[in-house]
Amino acid sequence: MAVTIPEGQVYLDNASTSFPKPDAVSDAIGEAVRTVGLTTGRGTYFCEINPDDITAKVRRMLARLINADNPRRIIFTYSATDSINLVLFGTLGEGDHMLISALEHHAVSRPAHYLRETRGVAFDLMPADSDGRIIPERIAEVVKPNTRLACISHVSNVAGTIQPVADIGAELKRLDIPFMLDASQSAGCHAIDVKAMNLDVVAAPGHKSLLALPGSGMLYLSERMKPAPFRVGGTGVKSELYHLPPELPVYYESGTPNVLGIIALEASLGFIFKETVDAIERRHQRLCGRVLGALQELPGVSIVGPTDPAIRAPVISFNVEGFSPKELSELLAEKYHVAHRGGLHCAPMAHEFFGTTEYGGAVRVSPAFLTPDEEVEYFCDVLEEVTADLA
Ligand SMILES: Cc1ncc(COP(=O)(O)O)c(C=O)c1O
Repeated sequence: MAVTIPEGQVYLDNASTSFPKPDAVSDAIGEAVRTVGLTTGRGTYFCEINPDDITAKVRRMLARLINADNPRRIIFTYSATDSINLVLFGTLGEGDHMLISALEHHAVSRPAHYLRETRGVAFDLMPADSDGRIIPERIAEVVKPNTRLACISHVSNVAGTIQPVADIGAELKRLDIPFMLDASQSAGCHAIDVKAMNLDVVAAPGHKSLLALPGSGMLYLSERMKPAPFRVGGTGVKSELYHLPPELPVYYESGTPNVLGIIALEASLGFIFKETVDAIERRHQRLCGRVLGALQELPGVSIVGPTDPAIRAPVISFNVEGFSPKELSELLAEKYHVAHRGGLHCAPMAHEFFGTTEYGGAVRVSPAFLTPDEEVEYFCDVLEEVTADLA
């Protein structure tokens, strides 16, 4: 029986950006835009929504989310890319070396290549197993006397691979190498504990699994991280100085921040704490099991990366025999109205690693906590229909 195609879209592209958002997010930003001038540290507020208070509160919430003691070490940025760039460009110079994983997004791999070309910064990949999971005991093989930083994505945006972050952190601590986590696909849906995981840097955007808006991001810096600032300008405080006030967070927060994004984060983090990260992760694991299970039953489908839901997230890339990713993408979007992402996903290294570059990448679906079950079932039915002739 043919599937019934909905008039609207079925949204399975949460790895690009989360949708839908919790109702509390749209309510909060609508109310804020109607009620208050959107800046912080630069004005006086005479209404209940006070951006200064909200900014301080969201710093505390983000610190709690990653078990950091000092909220002043949470910096507001504009995206994960912004956070990562701040640390890489502010830390690494001529003659330095860094470690990354084979599954990095361009937010890491492009700065790594750029720094290699412009500053002679070298990098190596940490050894990994066939699922792309780093093997902590083998990290020492690629460490050099000038290794200044290790940077990995917690969850791969191509294969969903979850890195064994606590074990990697323990080994990097032993080797005395600062550890940066790109938590773009994990903040809000996987436990992150800067102490237990020995993390020095956590970077995440607001608009993915933190369920808030694009144009917002967070950066955590441990005491030993002292990157040079990326932007220099007005901070709203100490206007008499011609240099940046040295204290955190303002040292890294020149310019008017994305106050609306911060207000959205207050609402989305409230939602995440109420639901709990554990429950969100459990639902993600169930969704992952359901989609992987369905895809594995079908003829001609090859899944990119691990097939065990215990070590991967529902960021699921796959190919179907007889279709290029582009053809399959067009079919899913145009005929079946499934929002998803095809191609190389800004992560050509990951596709290289999994051998999918020659096909032009893969098609990726990424259901998440707020995806209705029926939409996941619809996608499974669509794939059954698409592959019916391959049996
Ligand atoms: C693993 C990973 N890192 C970094 C980013 C960059 O996020 P943003 O574009 O919000 O800066 C993404 C976005 O897809 C990602 O998946």
